[in-house]
Amino acid sequence: MTPTDQLRAMSEEHSAHNYHPLPIVVAEADGVWLTDVEGRRYLDMLAAYSAVNFGHRNPRLTAAVKRQLDRVTLVSRAFDHDQFGPFVSELAELCGKDMVLPMNSGAEAVETALKTARKWGYEVKGVPAGQANIITFEGNFHGRTTTIISFSTDPDAHDSYGPYTPGFRTVPYGDAEALKAAMDDATVGVLIEPIQGEAGVNVPPSGFLRAVRELCTARGALMIADEIQSGLGRTGTTFAVEHEGVVPDIYILGKALGGGIMPVSAVVADRDVLGVFKPGQHGSTFGGNPLACAIGREVIAMLKTGEFQERSRTLGAHLHERLGHLPGDLVREVRGRGLWAGVELHGRARPVSERLMGLGVLAKETHETTLRLAPPLVIEQDDLDWALDQLEIALKG
Ligand SMILES: Cc1ncc(COP(=O)(O)O)c(C=O)c1O
Repeated sequence: MTPTDQLRAMSEEHSAHNYHPLPIVVAEADGVWLTDVEGRRYLDMLAAYSAVNFGHRNPRLTAAVKRQLDRVTLVSRAFDHDQFGPFVSELAELCGKDMVLPMNSGAEAVETALKTARKWGYEVKGVPAGQANIITFEGNFHGRTTTIISFSTDPDAHDSYGPYTPGFRTVPYGDAEALKAAMDDATVGVLIEPIQGEAGVNVPPSGFLRAVRELCTARGALMIADEIQSGLGRTGTTFAVEHEGVVPDIYILGKALGGGIMPVSAVVADRDVLGVFKPGQHGSTFGGNPLACAIGREVIAMLKTGEFQERSRTLGAHLHERLGHLPGDLVREVRGRGLWAGVELHGRARPVSERLMGLGVLAKETHETTLRLAPPLVIEQDDLDWALDQLEIALKG
């Protein structure tokens, strides 16, 4: 038995089978490269679903971690610490908002945004108690909690977990008329991914995000942008909503905010929205801890240089130009923005990701027929070109 087989057998035997990983066991990582337990190197074209936007073990981020590890790592929110104030003020400034509510995982931040919208709806908008509704979109992916999967339209994510949380209405993604028809006086929020990641890197029709913004303003509902996967440089701008010049009422951030090191998430909004929380009404033991804040501050400082957004823009243009030249008999459609692409195939994507792995490139299918490409934003053009050469070989079977 190889070391890979031995380790995979252990996880197969003792881990719940809620994932279907590629048959690789990673031992080390550096920048865009992963090395497995047998010394083989692979180019990472997934970047942990955009959590590793800045590359594996980015030296600026590991240095920030090491500095903070030698000072203080956790005090809970019972006490303030010297990274907290700077983190929330720097993140609020990056988003152009007043306030931040830090959490840990993405799903927790989405839950926080949903609670914010409901509380705001009852206490500020004046919706009668228990009547608030929130609109979501078909194909959405916002995490795995019981409430979030209550409005998932993916049977794998949704089925067999009832009874479900009420208060959500779901309309087709990209259909402004359907959204308008679903909204009423009790609508407190519209929860949207500016680009749907898990659904297959679905970019909405041009003008749709602006239409959502206008409808939310007209109906007095909060536009809640889940930028957990699309935000922080992935699409060539800090936030994907910027492509349509839209400013949501609430940003939900996660993944890359933790620098690929630990879970760090946040809800960011103005005072009239996040100001609804009083002591004891929401919280998290680990949310806003000193280590998380130190990492988050370094991430924000890196984003403020604009370097990563620029790389995603220019290399993303190159990525899409090359993907656009793939022959139609191999590829049905390519979607995406910046260094983010959903490559829609004629058949199953899993065998292609397995062949790619054999060629030294790691990418993952999403649903049956889409291959998702999202390399760390630090990738060099030579490496990107090499990965795309391997993709052409893998597609030809
Ligand atoms: C848009 C979006 N929202 C929320 C989540 C959930 O984040 P987490 O897995 O950290 O809970 C994800 C994860 O893929 C996501 O893509």
